[in-house]
Amino acid sequence: MPYQNLKKADPQMFKLVDAEAKRQQKFITLIASENYASPAVLEALGSPLNNKYSEGYPGKRYYPGNELVDKIEILARERACKLFKAEHANVQALSGGPANLAIYSALLKPGDKLMGAKLAHGGHLSHGHKVNFSGQLYRQIGYELDTDGRLNMKKLAALAKKEKPKLIVAGFSAYSRDIDWAGFRKIADSVKAYLLADISHTAGLVATGQLKSPVKYADVVMFTTHKSFWGPRGAVILCKKYLAEIIDRAVFPGFQGGPHDNAIAAIAVALKEASTAKFKTYAKQVIVNAKTLATELSKLNYKIISNGTDNHLMVVDLTNKNLTGKEAEAKLAAQGILVSRSTIPNDPRGPFNPSGIRLGTYAITTRGFKPTDIKKLAQRIDAILSRNT
Ligand SMILES: Cc1ncc(COP(=O)(O)O)c(C=O)c1O
Repeated sequence: MPYQNLKKADPQMFKLVDAEAKRQQKFITLIASENYASPAVLEALGSPLNNKYSEGYPGKRYYPGNELVDKIEILARERACKLFKAEHANVQALSGGPANLAIYSALLKPGDKLMGAKLAHGGHLSHGHKVNFSGQLYRQIGYELDTDGRLNMKKLAALAKKEKPKLIVAGFSAYSRDIDWAGFRKIADSVKAYLLADISHTAGLVATGQLKSPVKYADVVMFTTHKSFWGPRGAVILCKKYLAEIIDRAVFPGFQGGPHDNAIAAIAVALKEASTAKFKTYAKQVIVNAKTLATELSKLNYKIISNGTDNHLMVVDLTNKNLTGKEAEAKLAAQGILVSRSTIPNDPRGPFNPSGIRLGTYAITTRGFKPTDIKKLAQRIDAILSRNT
């Protein structure tokens, strides 16, 4: 039985943790940013590495007793570099949002222009949105998807030429198409901007060759380790050698104190898992499942933004169904299916109750879903959303 020590020490918390573990088993999770950490990753996370302080980097720590922690962090960095064919990896950032802020602080000065996708067009808060520190410290030049729900590289080039940003973020929380990294590089070069590829949502698909890799093109690549991998909450920053020192310094001491060594060990485990044939098969299945879900929902007259998907996710525009994203989210949750409300491009409604929902296949694929299951799932989603109550 798991959690026996917790049960004894804190029965109230045990009940909540145990109930959450059961809830996770019971619900079908289509939240595009969620996945399940592997048992090996959870063991590394719950290991005594949690107890160590190791401010600094391997070989240059501000605390004693870090000989083994150094080996662990070096292993995590080496695995990240090998998997993505990168020149340098930092594995200390606590999560994706803080990682992006650290990257900006390394490359930008307050008030500089940062060109990132608007929230309603698939971007993330940490790409310069006004409610995020990135939007308060830097001036966001927000870009949009075209009317077909895709990036229009010519329009992006024109916007960059007009605004001359110091950094361009190519990366998305709700964009279902593969990305023209060479095109982004060309645009960045045309205005001498840095290019940051935020592949938090797709890193596992990139690592296994299912999607194009930005590593050759971007100055910096950032990804979280808990969405597309079976990994812990955390982030990895990859960069060219010439930026290694300033990126490392921005993370520590610039942004953080002691790294979470248990999470770093768990990241290393997740990266090892990601290099296996089993994970490659999984990544392929994630995309097959997402394509199947998009096709089946289209057949049921659901409008998929950009008419399909290349990756693990899709945004569904519900305006023709007379439902808001929040209503659909609640209806599905009441029947054990979790999706997240989502804005659609040029959404006439606000982000709290937007016009769409976002669905992704990482979690269900980890649980073994195949296209036959997905077809049934699409039918079930439609049956729930079509009910009047
Ligand atoms: C593209 C992108 N970048 C950054 C983040 C932030 O990651 P975290 O939630 O780990 O801070 C997310 C999270 O959803 C994301 O989708």
